[in-house]
Amino acid sequence: MPVELIKQHSGVNDSELSHCRRSSLLILRLCAVSQQHLNIVLTTDSDIAELNRRYRSKDGATNVLSFPFNDSGDSFIDSLSPQTLGDIVISYDHAVAEARKLSCSTEQRLDWLIVHGVLHLLGYDHERSARDADIMFDKETELLSELKNYRRFIMPHLAVNVDHVATIRQARGIDDPDPVAAAAVCELAGAKGIVVHLREDRRHIQDRDVRILRETVKTKLNLEMGAAKEIISFALDIKPDLVTLVPEKRQELTTEGGLDVVSQKKKLAKTIVKMDKASIPVSLFIDPKSSQIKAAKDIGATFVELHTGRYAEAADEAQQFEEFEMIRTSAEEAHLLGLRVNAGHGLNYFNTSAIALLDPIEELSIGHAIISRAVFSGLDLAVRDMCAIVENGSLY
Ligand code: PXP
Repeated sequence: MPVELIKQHSGVNDSELSHCRRSSLLILRLCAVSQQHLNIVLTTDSDIAELNRRYRSKDGATNVLSFPFNDSGDSFIDSLSPQTLGDIVISYDHAVAEARKLSCSTEQRLDWLIVHGVLHLLGYDHERSARDADIMFDKETELLSELKNYRRFIMPHLAVNVDHVATIRQARGIDDPDPVAAAAVCELAGAKGIVVHLREDRRHIQDRDVRILRETVKTKLNLEMGAAKEIISFALDIKPDLVTLVPEKRQELTTEGGLDVVSQKKKLAKTIVKMDKASIPVSLFIDPKSSQIKAAKDIGATFVELHTGRYAEAADEAQQFEEFEMIRTSAEEAHLLGLRVNAGHGLNYFNTSAIALLDPIEELSIGHAIISRAVFSGLDLAVRDMCAIVENGSLY
């Protein structure tokens, strides 16, 4: 993750944490160092007082301390390679007290403290001279005003892939659990779309599921499929709200890589034309690469879905940065070319927020993580219900 937030103060709430994450990602971007990693610790007055004493030989608490990763004494960093910018330690106690004193929100004060801390990490220093203090103050004012003016132009939404519910059903070859019922629950819980992958081997989702979902889905039905003749005819008959073309290999456990649009332009273009005639927009599931984006644009796709699998499965932080940056720049490039942008694969409760913050992204397609979590969040009640039947003869 480009920004790691460490909560060491029990008073910090979730909305303040996500505010800090969003602001710091934006601040890094505005300072042209979005490839750099930043740690932010939200702590107590007594903890920051201890750091102040240990590292600055000063008594008492302060509001923010910055610890550059590469403390060489140089003014401004000049490398844009993935690396750690440093740590910012913020006293949440101070932030709350200062917000009260200045009649602003805690979030606004936290923004100021993050901006101040980041500028120190970048070599700005108001204590060096009066001129340096002016330079830092001007930069702070500029960043805070950009932060205030920032309005996201697209709000991202969640589309839930219910294939895994069908996988459990198919394991027994009976009717339960029904992905159609799962889709309804997802929509009631706030999902703005339902995704199903109708594979040629019908290993999970069946034709019947897609037909019923076409009738029952109240949001949007996104049909993932390979560009095979039989499936294309099925899609033309069903008319989902969106068709996402994916590569499909019989032996794979799940979709492995993005489509190679560059080498399959002709075949994919033909499918897009067919869908276009039926007024079905097409999304191409591609790796975040400029060549694939340009090819998708050339053949008339409406959307691209950027493959987030390599980002999600990155072996270490440096690789995750690299993959994140590829997704970020690809999303921007696709948007500038006039393509609409979705993303998905391997997203979970830890790696999704950074992707959701990327401006051009409209929809995140997430399946495995949600269904896996549902097993555990639902297991407690499922066992309690069965205990009631076994021990009391009835659920009620
Ligand atoms: N997008 C596409 C194109 C996929 O093939 C899949 C997997 O079916 C997903 C998104 C969802 O991936 P996950 O189940 O890992 O969330």
